[in-house]
Amino acid sequence: MKTVRVRDKDFRLFLTPQQIEGRVQELAKLLNQEYAGKRPILLPILNGAFLFAADLIRRLEVQPELQFIRVSSYGKSMQSSGKVELLVGLDIDIEDRHVLIVEDIVDTGLTFDYVKEYLLQKKAASVEIVSLLFKEANFKGKNLPRYVGYNIPPAFVVGYGLDYAQSGRELDGIYTVVEEA
Ligand code: PRP
Repeated sequence: MKTVRVRDKDFRLFLTPQQIEGRVQELAKLLNQEYAGKRPILLPILNGAFLFAADLIRRLEVQPELQFIRVSSYGKSMQSSGKVELLVGLDIDIEDRHVLIVEDIVDTGLTFDYVKEYLLQKKAASVEIVSLLFKEANFKGKNLPRYVGYNIPPAFVVGYGLDYAQSGRELDGIYTVVEEA
């Protein structure tokens, strides 16, 4: 099985580019049905969601608008810290609009809770999330992600936008850390 080294750790291939592409296609098909006629605002959360969002939007046929926001969870290296802060917010009016957050991963779910609350305060008509990955075992949020690509075990993953200490985002597959014996 293919392995890569990112900084000081080895990672093993977990989802191939072909698998990801197939799943993105399936998610887009579902979203095309769910958001037909709604012209949703697609809202990727930087940085990790950039690749998934780029692949997803090219398959959407619902005339989405695109806006990015950036949040930060402090003190995060390989684990979620639980503290979320808005770094770059919205510069458009979202009142009565359907907003679809795009994430690479929902882990504890605290980022999603925070962003959803922020969007509802701005009077969005609906707020849902499409996340390529979901670590259900780590979840402690209030809002379950509605559209999920893969439910994955809690091991650390990198690639396809996801980083390990800011490295590895460029990998076209998703890799899981090889635990040292
Ligand atoms: C990741 C991911 C989500 C968040 C999910 O971002 O992109 O935004 O963590 O974690 P949670 O469900 O535990 O809140 P990260 O903070 O690593 O920043 P990045 O996207 O810039 O890599």
